[in-house]
Amino acid sequence: MKSNAIYDQDDLWNKDRLHAVHGWTDYSNFRDQGSEILVEADGLYVTDINGNRLLDAMGGVWCVNVGYGRDEIVDAIAAQARRLPFANPFRATTSPPAAQLTAKVAQLAPGDLDHVLFSAGGSTANDAALRLIQLYFNTTGRPDKKQILSRVDAYHGSTSASASICGIAQNKVGFDLPDVGTRYVSAPYEYRNPQNLQGQAFSDFLVDEFAETVKSIGPEKIACFYAEPVMGMGGVLVPPPGYFSRIAEICKENDIIIVADEVVTGFGRIGEYFASDAVFEMAPDIISCAKGLTSGYLPLGATIISSQIMDALQTPVAEGATFTHGFTYAEHPVCCAAALANIDIMERERIPENVQALSPYLKSKLDSLLDLDIVGDVRGAGFMFAIENVADKKTKALFPAPVGIGQRIAKHARDRGLIIRPGGHLNILSPPLTLKREDIDFIFDTLRESIEATQGDLAREDLL
Ligand SMILES: Cc1ncc(COP(=O)(O)O)c(C=O)c1O
Repeated sequence: MKSNAIYDQDDLWNKDRLHAVHGWTDYSNFRDQGSEILVEADGLYVTDINGNRLLDAMGGVWCVNVGYGRDEIVDAIAAQARRLPFANPFRATTSPPAAQLTAKVAQLAPGDLDHVLFSAGGSTANDAALRLIQLYFNTTGRPDKKQILSRVDAYHGSTSASASICGIAQNKVGFDLPDVGTRYVSAPYEYRNPQNLQGQAFSDFLVDEFAETVKSIGPEKIACFYAEPVMGMGGVLVPPPGYFSRIAEICKENDIIIVADEVVTGFGRIGEYFASDAVFEMAPDIISCAKGLTSGYLPLGATIISSQIMDALQTPVAEGATFTHGFTYAEHPVCCAAALANIDIMERERIPENVQALSPYLKSKLDSLLDLDIVGDVRGAGFMFAIENVADKKTKALFPAPVGIGQRIAKHARDRGLIIRPGGHLNILSPPLTLKREDIDFIFDTLRESIEATQGDLAREDLL
């Protein structure tokens, strides 16, 4: 460990501790414990202020898809900031990178999803999707189609509307979120479904439940279905076979707009630029994306819509009405330049193909952790996995929350040079997509050691 001489660590730590309001933070201990400070990064690795170099198997927050330290993206950002740092995105003004990126995203998106509305990130992309859907049904003479279908444990963002559509109940406590009319169906959480159904039988159950929900609400009242192709924050839940294609059929029959939330799964994480249709046959009408669009180098989100929705938007909702939605920083030319450079790297280095080639190896390594006493389930797709830790494998009983099982394992991993994300009883991996075989070996060896070390601690504390 060597401290970083450029920075005054205590000063930074105190400034942050006393003044920062971070998202997703436990404030019961934050003012005492403060934040970890990261100072630099390269490739798969970040370095903290104490000089510890850590393999970031969380890819920032599921976003640094091409890895850190890409001069090409940095140079594109600097060049664009010098040339034109801002362009008014409203009233039909654009900039060269925004125009190029719009066409590039439309080209990568499936089917006739050819029209792109930019925003600041994933939450705003999902929020904008809802506004577009409302406008779509209002302008096409179906103002009663307003209900939203979502899933238990879904995560769609932190703006008021997107948070309201989320299905993670505990995240809503204490907030008076607007009622945007959301109804929930079950998550594809095979490991813990009450009837212990598997594979096709579980798929049948979920599809029947979806069909019954549509029938009971009345399709004439349902506007849309929001769904992450692989649910991320809800626990990396991969749908069972046929699930999305069958649900898509029900949606098409009943004119229910499918919003594929590809904020995490987009741009290579599941081995395709967009996984919703290519991997899961979801046939979306709208895709929201962010994160991997710029690999996190700058903030940018996008809502990609079908020609059918675009046609309706071109019809004024009232005489002389214009499209009254927009964010100042949407289409930001510097962010668009970063996205173009990022996609260039992905295409040149065939990064989605790397995920396709190495995902089975990563999966087989992680699956082999199932021989450990506390590893109850390993699941995921592409380069997106969760390990579910349990106190008893037979009953699937969880450790009491105060044990902080995910945190303990993540702490052991960090001490060994690996960042994984703790989430309650889970540990989540979402590494840069440039991972090589030997990096997977390091991740696997470190995880195994960390879980074994945690098991040792628990045994010593009589918790196992
Ligand atoms: C599936 C999904 N949708 C939306 C969001 C929100 O994106 P942002 O944090 O960029 O607003 C996230 C963030 O993690 C996400 O995982």
